[in-house]
Amino acid sequence: TENVGIVALDVYFPSRYVDQTELEQHDGVSAGKYTIGLGQSKMAFCDDREDISSVCMTAVQGFMDKYGVSYADIGRLEVGTETIIDKSKSTKTVLMSLFAESGNSSVEGIDTSNACYGGTSALFNACQWVTSPAWDGRLALVVAADIAVYARGPARPSGGVGAVCILVGPNAPLALEFPLRGTFMEHIYDFYKPDMSSEFPTVDGPLSVASYVRALDHAYNAYLDKLASVGGVENPSLSDLDYVVFHSPYTKQVVKGFARMAYNDFLRSSPDAAAYADVQQFRDVAREASYTDKLLEKAFIGLTKSQFAAKTEPSLLAARNIGNMYTASVFFGLASLLSQVPHAQLDGKRITLFSYGSGCAASAYSFRVRGDTTAIADNLALASRLEKRIKVAPAKFEKIMELREHTHNAQEYQPTGSVDDLLPGTYYLQNVDSMWRRSYART
Ligand code: ACO
Repeated sequence: TENVGIVALDVYFPSRYVDQTELEQHDGVSAGKYTIGLGQSKMAFCDDREDISSVCMTAVQGFMDKYGVSYADIGRLEVGTETIIDKSKSTKTVLMSLFAESGNSSVEGIDTSNACYGGTSALFNACQWVTSPAWDGRLALVVAADIAVYARGPARPSGGVGAVCILVGPNAPLALEFPLRGTFMEHIYDFYKPDMSSEFPTVDGPLSVASYVRALDHAYNAYLDKLASVGGVENPSLSDLDYVVFHSPYTKQVVKGFARMAYNDFLRSSPDAAAYADVQQFRDVAREASYTDKLLEKAFIGLTKSQFAAKTEPSLLAARNIGNMYTASVFFGLASLLSQVPHAQLDGKRITLFSYGSGCAASAYSFRVRGDTTAIADNLALASRLEKRIKVAPAKFEKIMELREHTHNAQEYQPTGSVDDLLPGTYYLQNVDSMWRRSYART
């Protein structure tokens, strides 16, 4: 099995969004806080007609229809999500309803969850299955999806909704670079969901941001070390990565993440490296102090402006216009990159991903472009799909958030949201019965 990796992918995001400039005004915060400070333009959301199961079904069925893949050809299906509506039953088993007609019920894989990292773990599992003696020759599907909603307050504008469906197999245009991988995991309470009665996370915002950067330091350095030891690259650095795609809680964090990689390159470089002549004063900053050193951050953002524009900016289209999609976020970054950069330019290039999930779990790893990405870009039609959405006023958005809050985990419930605003081919919740069993229909 050669070039195991991403054969194809498609995304789903809801038809409605709230504009971040309007949200700034509505929330009474200073103009620019969400749009410049967080780097967000629009935020997708859904009402009580959509839940994590419906969102995943929409993504999977949409993918299968577009690419003409048969459910009979799938031997593994993994779901990465942190939007949990059942403590036992997986979203994966709900998705098996889509397989019923094909008669294929022999499908391995189950849900994986740890904040925004579950999709990455699911993708690793699927790729490793294809390269393992357990592989039976069929293809794998990886679904990463989340409904990211926060309580009122500073975190609310960093929400979003999205799902990605990825086909994994051999001879893939995006071949995973085994074993170039740097992973970092530790126990930390930065963002978690201990309140089972609520859809909202408990968040220590500043700690989550510092943890993202700390995990990046470790994962990125471990990845570079692998590039040197296994990849045979001498003094590896950002210049050996053609494109860098990040988990994006909001796009400003990605700018900071890229700058942080350059800071790590700087610490790995020789003290007289000409490229870092203007930032030498930061060489002796203690690592713990560096996480909150604004001058350091600013200096490296400045130093990496043009590199960032070339290697990462094209991956932010979805993140800026949809918001955080937790497990799906990093793959929407990849989808954006494939949409924005033509295949001729991507051909043969290395795309490095940085995935971060609070709690925390993080990995840096990469793909090599080994085949034509044009069909994926055409099928995604990302920019035009983003344009076709419906804008909703902040006051109405808040009402919808309240509706979700009050009906979360409801028993014997009939959703009240309008079905008319859903895009064609969208699965939606019809009813929750007296035993919490959910039934769905499709527009
Ligand atoms: N114009 C321009 N910039 C502004 C303005 C303005 N009017 N007002 C504020 N800003 C800037 C700030 O200077 C700050 O910039 P900096 O990050 O470079 O320092 C930025 O906007 C954010 O402003 P803060 O006052 O720091 O924002 P606040 O603390 O209110 O909220 C936070 C930010 C903590 C990230 C919040 O959105 C949050 O908790 N989000 C959820 C957690 C999260 O996403 N964590 C990231 C990793 S974990 C994960 O993916 C879930």
